[in-house]
Amino acid sequence: MTLATTFLFFAIHLACIRAGNSSEKFIKLECKEEHHGVYGQQSLLQCNVKAVENVTIVIVTWKRVEADTLLLEYNQDEFHPTPGFTFAEPSWNKNNMNVSLLLTKTKMADKGMYECMVTTDRGDDTATTSLSVTAKYITPTMSSIPETNIKENTDVTIFCNSTGGQQRGLIWWFDQDGYNWTRSAELVAKETDDGLFSLSSKFTVQKATSSFTNYTCKVLNSNGAEEGVASFEIQLAPQVSEINAEHLDSDSTTHWLAPVVVIGSLVIGLLAALLLFKRRSARRDHQPDTRHDGDVEAEGLNSDSPQDQRDSL
Ligand SMILES: *[C@@H]1O[C@H](CO)[C@@H](O)[C@H](O)[C@H]1NC(C)=O
Ligand SMILES: *[C@@H]1O[C@H](CO)[C@@H](O)[C@H](O)[C@H]1NC(C)=O
Ligand SMILES: *[C@@H]1O[C@H](CO)[C@@H](O)[C@H](O)[C@H]1NC(C)=O
Ligand SMILES: *[C@@H]1O[C@H](CO)[C@@H](O)[C@H](O)[C@H]1NC(C)=O
Ligand SMILES: *[C@@H]1O[C@H](CO)[C@@H](O)[C@H](O)[C@H]1NC(C)=O
Repeated sequence: MTLATTFLFFAIHLACIRAGNSSEKFIKLECKEEHHGVYGQQSLLQCNVKAVENVTIVIVTWKRVEADTLLLEYNQDEFHPTPGFTFAEPSWNKNNMNVSLLLTKTKMADKGMYECMVTTDRGDDTATTSLSVTAKYITPTMSSIPETNIKENTDVTIFCNSTGGQQRGLIWWFDQDGYNWTRSAELVAKETDDGLFSLSSKFTVQKATSSFTNYTCKVLNSNGAEEGVASFEIQLAPQVSEINAEHLDSDSTTHWLAPVVVIGSLVIGLLAALLLFKRRSARRDHQPDTRHDGDVEAEGLNSDSPQDQRDSL
C-alpha cells in the first residue's frame, strides 16, 4: 500500500463516520442503560426517540441480542407482538416517541441484553439495554397435621413453605415468646423449573398445649436477609374443663348457690359467736363494780335472752 492510497482510505473512512454521525444527529434513540426486574413482576425497558423536529415512526423492533428473537414489532401500522411483551405506553401510536418495552411477567430467563431499532421518516437509530432479574421468596404458607380439633398433649406437625428464591434459603421457627425452635425443624430445599428454589420446613410441636398455640416462621435468603414471615395458630379441640364450665353455667344457679349458702351461714354463725364471746368477757371484766352498767348495757342492746343475762351474772 502506498502512502497515497492509505491516506485516501483513511479519508473515506472518516467521511463515512461523519455521515453516520450527522444522520444520527437528526433522530436519536436513547435507552436507559440498565434495568432491574423482579421475578413474576412487570419490567419496563425505557427507550425514547429524541428528534429535533416532529417525526413519524415507521418501524420499531425489539429483540433479544443473544437469541436474535423478535419480541415486538411495529411495521407501517401493523403490530406483531409476542405474548408477555408490549409497548409500555398503553395506546402507543406512531407519533409517540416513548417506545419503551414492557415485560408483563418477568421470568429468570428474561435477563440479558435487548436491542431496540427505530425507523422514522427522518432517519433511524438502534440502541441496546440490559435487564437483570432477581427473585425473592414469597410470603410463606403454613399448615398443620392434623389440621383442626387437635387434642391437648398430642404431637402436631406444622409446615412452612415458600417458593421463588434465587438461592437456597433458610427457615427459622419461633414460638409466641420468641423462643428459637429452628434446631428442632427439618428443612427441604428443591430447585424448581425456573431455576428458583422452593423451601418446605417441618416442625413438630410435642405435646401441644393451649398456652402455646402461636408459631411463627421466617424465610431468609442466602444472604441471611428476611424475605417473608408468617404465623400459625394450632387449632386445639375445646378443652374438657371448658366443656364442664359451659355445662355448669347453663345448668342452673343451684350448683353454686349451695356452697354460698353453707359458707354464708357459717360466716354469720361465727360472727355471732364472736360477738357473744366479746360481750361476755367484757361483762366479766367489769363485774366487781359495774353491775348496774351491765344491766343498762343488756337493756340497751336488747338482744340477749334473759337466760344469757342470768348466766353472765
Ligand atoms: C409537532 O406535532 C404536534 C402535534 O402532532 C404539533 O402540535 C406541533 O406544532 C408540531 N411541531 C412542529 C415543530 O412541527
Ligand atoms: C414511557 O412510558 C412509560 C409507560 O407509560 C413510563 O413509565 C415512562 O416514564 C415513559 N418514559 C418517558 C421518558 O416519558
Ligand atoms: C408444605 O409442604 C409440605 C411438604 O411438601 C406439604 O405436605 C404441605 O401440605 C405444604 N403446605 C402448604 C401450606 O402448602
Ligand atoms: C402470633 O404471634 C405473632 C407475633 O408474636 C402475631 O403477630 C400474630 O398476630 C399472632 N397470630 C395469631 C393468630 O394470634
Ligand atoms: C435460630 O436458630 C438457628 C439455628 O440454631 C440459628 O442459626 C439462628 O441464628 C437463630 N436465630 C435467631 C434470631 O436467634
